[in-house]
Amino acid sequence: MVAAPRAHASAPGKIILFGEHAVVYGQPSLSLAIGKRTHVEAEAGGAGVTVNGHPLDPAYHAYIVQALRLCGADGPVRLQTRSELPSASGVGSSAALSVATVAALLRLQGAPHDPARVAELAFRTEFETQGAASPNDTTVSTAGGGVLLAPKRSEAPGTQFLWELRRGEHAWAAHRVELPPLPLVVATTGRRAKTGDQVAKVRRFVEHSGFARDVVAEIGRITLEGVDALRAHDLKRVGHLMNRNHECLHTLGVDAPDLHRLVTAARNIRGAYGAKLTGAGGGGSLIALAEDPEAVRAALEALGSQALVVRPDPDGVRLEA
Ligand code: PMV
Repeated sequence: MVAAPRAHASAPGKIILFGEHAVVYGQPSLSLAIGKRTHVEAEAGGAGVTVNGHPLDPAYHAYIVQALRLCGADGPVRLQTRSELPSASGVGSSAALSVATVAALLRLQGAPHDPARVAELAFRTEFETQGAASPNDTTVSTAGGGVLLAPKRSEAPGTQFLWELRRGEHAWAAHRVELPPLPLVVATTGRRAKTGDQVAKVRRFVEHSGFARDVVAEIGRITLEGVDALRAHDLKRVGHLMNRNHECLHTLGVDAPDLHRLVTAARNIRGAYGAKLTGAGGGGSLIALAEDPEAVRAALEALGSQALVVRPDPDGVRLEA
């Protein structure tokens, strides 16, 4: 392996169409990479590790600390990060940072670009940092496009197996899925909520309640129905299933009053098919599927939310020039 003096990688954020939280317990999930990226530039040298000109600080750079450790990068390195993604807002900013950091560090070491390896190390980075995580966000950020995680390999038409990831008793088979064009809006409450806190909250519920475990299984069934509805281009049904997925997440305790208000407002706009929170919840963001996404975007903005019509990103992690 010939080390490179510098490396630049970028990775996209994502939205989860179906299955957040349940995927942590091995249920399926379906996500889409979006055209907003995090960039990481790494340059060998300097004194120790610096991030954006500051010495590495585990309190602020928790994901980077884990990525350095897992990549075995122990030499001096200057890292520069920049992101188009808001943090702790349910659009996968920490996963994009983990994926881009791992890809840049491996490149710096002269390793050949291997998305499956990046996905594995970025997942471990998130898992070690948060204490619990599924490989959902890091996989879609690595692979780009539409990604289905399922407990078993799927041979369904329009589905291409990518790689498998394991952690403890759970295994996830990652697949690329062809999705029809989706008129989607993503909107934020403007209130951040840490993914790790929301995952821990659901974990406490799931560990102590058979009812919560049933809700998790129900989310898994909704996700698979959602995949079928998307394959059939039945957007009305997709929207209905998104609504049901949101009610399950509400029951698990990760909805929030401001989030719910925006979800309800989006659903009430003429031509809306459905809406749900996306990502960890507790604040963060929602997605809405609608005949006229521009009308939904404008209505949610009028309520004080920052909203945008989703532009999918077919590219996952990229080594930049
Ligand atoms: O809020 P985000 O974008 O980090 O999404 C988290 C998704 C969860 O299912 C809640 C957690 C996970 O690791 O899958």
